[in-house]
Amino acid sequence: KKKVIIDCDPGIDDSLAIMLALSSKEIEVVGITIVSGNVINEKGYKNALKVLKLMDRLDVPVYMGEAYPRKRELITAEDTHGEDGLGETNIPEIDLEVKRGAVDFILKVASQEELSIIALGPFMNLAKALEKDKDTFHKIKEIVSMGGAFKSFGNCSQVAEFNYWVDPDSVEYVLHNSKVPLTMVTLDVTREIVLTPNLREMIKQFHDEKGDFIHDITRFYVDFHWKQERTLGCVINDPLAVAYFIDRTLCSGSEYYVDIVTEGKAIGGLLVDEGDFYRKNSNCLVLTKVDSKRFMQMFLKRIFKNNEK
Ligand code: BDR
Ligand code: CA
Repeated sequence: KKKVIIDCDPGIDDSLAIMLALSSKEIEVVGITIVSGNVINEKGYKNALKVLKLMDRLDVPVYMGEAYPRKRELITAEDTHGEDGLGETNIPEIDLEVKRGAVDFILKVASQEELSIIALGPFMNLAKALEKDKDTFHKIKEIVSMGGAFKSFGNCSQVAEFNYWVDPDSVEYVLHNSKVPLTMVTLDVTREIVLTPNLREMIKQFHDEKGDFIHDITRFYVDFHWKQERTLGCVINDPLAVAYFIDRTLCSGSEYYVDIVTEGKAIGGLLVDEGDFYRKNSNCLVLTKVDSKRFMQMFLKRIFKNNEK
């Protein structure tokens, strides 16, 4: 089993990603680290616990991580994920003592085990860990990150995707200083992962706790997509990073040297050096193609596997 830490900002689609990861026997989730993003880290922490409770996995440790970006003010996304971060479902909170120190937890596990990170939020925890102890950080086997937009347009501006737009300085720090293999599961691919109204209704008909949870937390998200983009159904980005981590044939792309814009109109946008202007070695695998049908089959089959009689 591959050991992973899920670094995330739950978040509706982060929650779906955690559910998929915990339903997958190829990986062992050794911990969940929280970063501010969709909501402030404190709310994200509570949401992670709610998902773990649903999955009957409160044994997985959750660590509170960074609250604020490296240089900019924090901008959260309650318009997309609801005030509570879980589509305003207001699921009861779990009364557990908060564990602090996500950065130290990442470094501790990296020093002891072969660790990979699935990053589903902004890069504050990763940049801090790298800054704190570069040698230990470099023991991390790989980072698979949902973030960025390349050929596709952004979701915060024409060029910027939310996770990288929230804290481009941390992304820049990692791109410039980390030697850990990095894959970007960009909006180019996640945009094709749509939970349609029909799929939501089908899931509801399963009449089980997980189905009800998914149906409930995505209601707000679906409404948002309709209001914002006049699209039916919601784009569920983050579980694709988990799925790709497990099955590399689900997505494809190319290696590039990638940098990021940290100020001005195009802030948060990626500079993917297709033309080799920087004359630098690649530092990132940028995914641009996805088999969305196989993803959706995998997602549903794994999460609802207990329904198979
Ligand atoms: C990313 O931003 C967040 O809103 C989602 O959770 C996802 O990680 C998509 O741009
Ligand atoms: Ca996320």
